[in-house]
Amino acid sequence: MKIIHSAAEMQEIARQLKIQSKIIGFVPTMGYLHKGHLSLMSRSVKDCDVTVVSIYVNPMQFGPKEDFKKYPRDIKTDLKLCRQQNVDYVFIPKDAQIYPKGYMTEVQVKGITDSLCGKFRPGHFTGVCTIVSKLFNIVKPDIAYFGQKDAQQALVIKKMVKDLHMSLKIKVLPIIREPDGLAMSSRNAYLDDKQRQDAVLLSQALKKAKQLIEQKQRKTAKIIFQMKRLLSQSEFATIEYIAIVDADHLSEIKQLKAKTKVLIVLAVYMGRVRLIDNILVKVD
Ligand code: PAJ
Repeated sequence: MKIIHSAAEMQEIARQLKIQSKIIGFVPTMGYLHKGHLSLMSRSVKDCDVTVVSIYVNPMQFGPKEDFKKYPRDIKTDLKLCRQQNVDYVFIPKDAQIYPKGYMTEVQVKGITDSLCGKFRPGHFTGVCTIVSKLFNIVKPDIAYFGQKDAQQALVIKKMVKDLHMSLKIKVLPIIREPDGLAMSSRNAYLDDKQRQDAVLLSQALKKAKQLIEQKQRKTAKIIFQMKRLLSQSEFATIEYIAIVDADHLSEIKQLKAKTKVLIVLAVYMGRVRLIDNILVKVD
């Protein structure tokens, strides 16, 4: 496994791999890797000739009051995990290369970034799209792997790729969970023991919503009310949003219709730790 710090070197390697007609799989991450990240890597290793993982905590996607500085970092363990997954290249760029003095360009997807996380984290998705575009240009992947855990992010990236004629495929893989149902996240490391226990309520609320839909509840306000009731069992939980939306366009739904696919999404603070989770449900 090769570790690359220079964007120019990574780009040159990618160029050579292209000449050799190698299929490049790419997993962009911010590190502090867990089984969610590893599932993306293992799929890329299976599907592609060469797998590149990037580890970069991208300052542009954090708001001024967010956790950029204290975002968990552990490069040594990350590299060990990448090696175990048979990753070929780990790209770890430096800020000065990614955003040099005088850097002026941003990539913005409109519309689907106005709601949900985009509404509460202004500028976040522009930060994500900018770094992901840059990484795509450097790594030149044929396939890039994203997690359904960040459902809005995956849709936004797909839209960007389509709108900008980027020639690669985006594959979105399922959410990997802890045994009790909590979606894996680097930010789970911030939770204290009690918050960690209560954090299971997020996935329970989503399961409850799915059950209600299966029992033919069609009014989303009623479903969301039940979810809020469940989450209110925790003294730490503050709901940022809960929404039931169209799985492709993220528009809010009031009354569920048969034969549709909906996404139930939530963002909840456990104390000061912001957690997100979601579930896809087919309405019969
Ligand atoms: P990060 O939070 O490190 O996540 C990297 C990738 O792992 C994302 O595609 C995310 O959806 C996926 N992932 C995270 N938790 C997961 C889980 N429990 N199950 C499955 N997949 C999971 O998302 C980012 O970084 C950044 O925004 C990035 C795309 C790297 C741009 O900076």
